[in-house]
Amino acid sequence: MLVDGRAAAFSFHDRLPAAGSFLEDVIAGLSQPRKALPPKYFYDERGSRLFEAICELPEYYLTRVETALMQEKAGEMARRLGPGCAVVEYGCGSGRKTRVLLEALRPVAYVPIDIAREQLRSMAAEFASDFPGLPVVAFCADYSRPLALPEIDRFEARRRIVYFPGSTIGNLTPDEAVAFLGNARDLVGPGGAMLIGVDLKKDAARLNAAYNDRQGVTAEFNLNLLARINRELGADFDLGAFRHQAFYNEPLGRIEMHLLSLKEQRVTIGGRVIRFRAGETIHTENSCKYSVAEFQALAAGAGFEPVECWTDAKLRFGVHYLVLPQ
Ligand code: AVI
Repeated sequence: MLVDGRAAAFSFHDRLPAAGSFLEDVIAGLSQPRKALPPKYFYDERGSRLFEAICELPEYYLTRVETALMQEKAGEMARRLGPGCAVVEYGCGSGRKTRVLLEALRPVAYVPIDIAREQLRSMAAEFASDFPGLPVVAFCADYSRPLALPEIDRFEARRRIVYFPGSTIGNLTPDEAVAFLGNARDLVGPGGAMLIGVDLKKDAARLNAAYNDRQGVTAEFNLNLLARINRELGADFDLGAFRHQAFYNEPLGRIEMHLLSLKEQRVTIGGRVIRFRAGETIHTENSCKYSVAEFQALAAGAGFEPVECWTDAKLRFGVHYLVLPQ
């Protein structure tokens, strides 16, 4: 492959499990007494573009603060992680934070894992070109499921590190997060570690603003889920009859996103009629927020030893370093 006229060497492994059924998941989610849809369906092409736009919003501090934190602390992180690491990254976004980490750490291999095949392929090619000499081994796979990566044994890394930025772990419930960390623990093995970005608990006004931006991009992102169901499943959602709703649920320590039905209505999806009451919602996402101590306790529940958490001066965001004892 040629990137800007230069040859970029990377290997690409396809491990995508058979796709589950979008229609089945939608019908199952909307047939429950409390209607819900899985947030993974936000990320079609338009949804991914809208999420990138969210990351640039003035109210959405998460990406900006985490990137600045990486720029400030990457040297310290690299000293903690030590030489000879293989860095496995869960998900591949714009890669800005990852570049900062790789430049400081100079690992023996970089292993991005994502289900978005084309995005992963172009990102792997770019990294291979920008980091000459760094083996880039990309896996098109679902990192939320148990994974073994015997293909990277040949690099004889001193330790494996899972890097999981973006506070995406917050989109899981705490129980799901423990199970997820358990899979990461099995992947890194004894002596391995995780570097994971987690949004911190803070005052409700700042959190509410981050998920209710003035330009309405988050609303569009949320409503795009219904547009996607219309497009891909031939449903007849009236987008004007639903409204974006996001609020901080203080007792549960999470932002909840919903789509609020503005009237009594029926929607047909795949031959099934789903009824909505006026004021009824579809729960589309949780974004859990954790204090440093809460997240460290969660990680300990999955067998990790919490060693350090780097935070910004205003305590908005944390990057946790968790190790698995030998
Ligand atoms: C991907 N994830 C970490 C984002 C979040 O903040 O929970 C998704 C998002 N939803 C609305 N805005 C951003």
